[in-house]
Amino acid sequence: MALLSVRNLSVEFGPRDKPIAAVANASFTVESGQIVGVVGESGSGKSTMCTALMRSLQSTARVSGDIDFDGKSLLSLTLAQMRDIRGRDLSMILQNPMTSLDPLFTIGNQAREVLRLHGARPAATERDAVDLLRKVRITAPEMRVSQYPHQMSGGMKQRILTAFATASSPKLLIADEPTTALDATVQEEILSLFWEIRNTSNVAIIIVTHDLSVVRRISDRTLVMYAGRIVEAGPTQAVFGNPKHPYTQGLIGSMPRVVDGRVELNSIPGQVPRLDQLGAGCAFAERCTHATAACARQPAYRTVGAQHEVACWHQDTSASIPPFAPSVQ
Ligand SMILES: Nc1ncnc2c1ncn2[C@@H]1O[C@H](COP(=O)(O)OP(=O)(O)O)[C@@H](O)[C@H]1O
Ligand SMILES: [Mg+2]
Repeated sequence: MALLSVRNLSVEFGPRDKPIAAVANASFTVESGQIVGVVGESGSGKSTMCTALMRSLQSTARVSGDIDFDGKSLLSLTLAQMRDIRGRDLSMILQNPMTSLDPLFTIGNQAREVLRLHGARPAATERDAVDLLRKVRITAPEMRVSQYPHQMSGGMKQRILTAFATASSPKLLIADEPTTALDATVQEEILSLFWEIRNTSNVAIIIVTHDLSVVRRISDRTLVMYAGRIVEAGPTQAVFGNPKHPYTQGLIGSMPRVVDGRVELNSIPGQVPRLDQLGAGCAFAERCTHATAACARQPAYRTVGAQHEVACWHQDTSASIPPFAPSVQ
């Protein structure tokens, strides 16, 4: 059974008669030890979906569907039960490492607090804090524990947050844009750290980013989101090597590439539609060169390869295609 199984997850904001569907009918699974990348332009619902998985959305959000995690149905747990899972089996690294550490306390203090909260070490010592930092390969951890966040680089802070988020040996780690604020070299280091943590602990990781190159290198599976919907999902190699949705094709086509020593940038013409102005059909249709009258209806998911599904009417339907069901592996 999958570690995480999400079925028809929807998140709505705003008035009930004119709702904003930030996430619409998302279904996917994550296996133990799997790295799943979630990509899509800003505003496509990536953060909302992750926050819904943690059940950390503000109370005005209306969440429906099923989230099965480690044999539990998360949406039916009490908040107290959910708190217990959050930060233990299910952990999240937030988007902005600059604001997630407390500026008033030393790194050592904060590390000990994390260890205490996880119950890993009720009386965590400075030595435990040093060990925690060493796990994420912070150099000179003995010195670092007595320093404050402002004395650290962005990359080091992200390493520390990764150490904190994995201190409880979670089964699933959700990282929302963990490298966005970092320069390219440091981004590489953080990605190899994730890779290493997965390989040594078998934690599953959902990594959210608008940077496709990150997902291409690190993830086993890729989910592509557009206007709140997962429009394509598949093994990373298939999604990048044989993208089926015109949006995925556009995203990949707009990845920066070096041509004759110059960086070439293309972008998909048009803009992400406003979520309060979506019609009933495919939200990408107005930017899509393949759009036809069929796109006035919401596309069904079609299987286009092994564990590879796409929501687009303009796919080869010559093969007999089973209706979409969450991937079973
Ligand atoms: N609290 C909220 N109230 C109303 N709309 C929201 C709220 N949070 C998110 N949204 C809507 O959800 C959309 C998706 O946001 P988000 O999940 O942050 O996207 P991403 O992480 O992909 O950039 C936003 O464009 C916004 O319209
Ligand atoms: Mg986001």
